[in-house]
Amino acid sequence: MIPTLSQLEEELGFSLELVSEGGVKLVVPKLSDYAVDGSYVPSRAPVFYNPLMALCRDVGVALAEALSAFGLQKLLVCEPLTGAGARGIRYCVEAENVEQAVLGDINPRAVRLAEVNASLNSASATVVREEANSLMARMPKAFGRPHLVDVDPFGSPAPFVENAIRCLSNGGVIALTATDLAPLCGVYPKACRRKYGAWPLRTKYCHELAIRILMGFVCQAAARLERGVVALYCHSTAHYARVYMRVFRGARKADSSLENLAYILHCFKCLHREVSKELHPPLTCSSCGSRVGVAGPLWVGPLFEKKLCEKLVEVGEKLPLAKKQEFEALTKLILEEVEGPPTFFALDHLCDHFSLPTPKRDAVILRLKEMGFFASKTHFTPTGIRTDAPTRVVVEVVEELTRRRSP
Ligand SMILES: C[S@@+](CC[C@H](N)C(=O)[O-])C[C@H]1O[C@@H](n2cnc3c(N)ncnc32)[C@H](O)[C@@H]1O
Ligand SMILES: [Zn+2]
Repeated sequence: MIPTLSQLEEELGFSLELVSEGGVKLVVPKLSDYAVDGSYVPSRAPVFYNPLMALCRDVGVALAEALSAFGLQKLLVCEPLTGAGARGIRYCVEAENVEQAVLGDINPRAVRLAEVNASLNSASATVVREEANSLMARMPKAFGRPHLVDVDPFGSPAPFVENAIRCLSNGGVIALTATDLAPLCGVYPKACRRKYGAWPLRTKYCHELAIRILMGFVCQAAARLERGVVALYCHSTAHYARVYMRVFRGARKADSSLENLAYILHCFKCLHREVSKELHPPLTCSSCGSRVGVAGPLWVGPLFEKKLCEKLVEVGEKLPLAKKQEFEALTKLILEEVEGPPTFFALDHLCDHFSLPTPKRDAVILRLKEMGFFASKTHFTPTGIRTDAPTRVVVEVVEELTRRRSP
């Protein structure tokens, strides 16, 4: 029996409200009770629900649906840090490709809300009160090996990655959210080194480096367990980074995945950057000879699987997503950059750096393409240009466009 809102409020000891997200209805803490200066602060609520993560959940649901085209069908999903259950329940209800979900949380009040929300939406979900690592360790025997494990914690997902990889079915997908962008983006490099075993670097493309560090971390954790990984999808949105990788059993797969680990060298003087497999001191810029900054070891392989990106756009059109427009904008933008090289230029920053006026981004992209380079926008920043053209060429294009503009 589903309790009424007031019965549940009495049982839990805090006010509740009913919200809609995507194709589900959810009972969540009354958001206005946890506002500071008019803005809801999810971490203050007794049970976690963040409406700002709706787009992230949209992408997860669409991706689960899209996986049917990749031989992953009738999915068993595990979401071991579920809060009020929004994510796991949306997987069950909205993605036809998801057959069942096992949701867990350590907070008993979260578990109660997630149970109620599962019933409210007739979701085929089992909700358990359990520590996330313990649940994932128990998954194979207790519920079967999940095809998708979605780890969406507070801060860093690092403590949960190994158990997520261990419990996955062969070829299954690990999805991770990281909100600890300060370490990953280089504000606290030592914290990044501690948690992810990699040095970050504060560049204009540090959010891409954050994702590459996360992917590199998953790759190394998988290799320790004799598994290889393939990057499927990622996005950097608002205050979080999100990655999706497939995990395959086999020592040889692990070895070939490790080939995707390297360092990115960045010259703060001339903005040149390059991928380097090894570090040979002195670390100097191959373009101007200055000392370079180093990020890594990190994932330098592709960030996206092109076919999946295409499928995501297609399935997104049919799903009752919460943030349809944002989803469409994000997935279409990503489709443009899918085949691009690592790193991008923030055009405004590049122009500032070389004291040049900033031309239209589209004009720079067009000219670079005419010259035979890869060039595209990037979802990472509205001023970004992803290109394999050397910095010098991008600067020349900006100068050329400036000359054309001035009489
Ligand atoms: C960011 S919230 C999850 C939000 C949820 N995934 C969503 O999309 O709405 C993190 C949740 O993890 C739970 N949690 C924190 N540490 C945990 C642990 N070690 N094991 C299980 N749950 C944990 C918290 O109670 C909280 O509900
Ligand atoms: Zn240089």
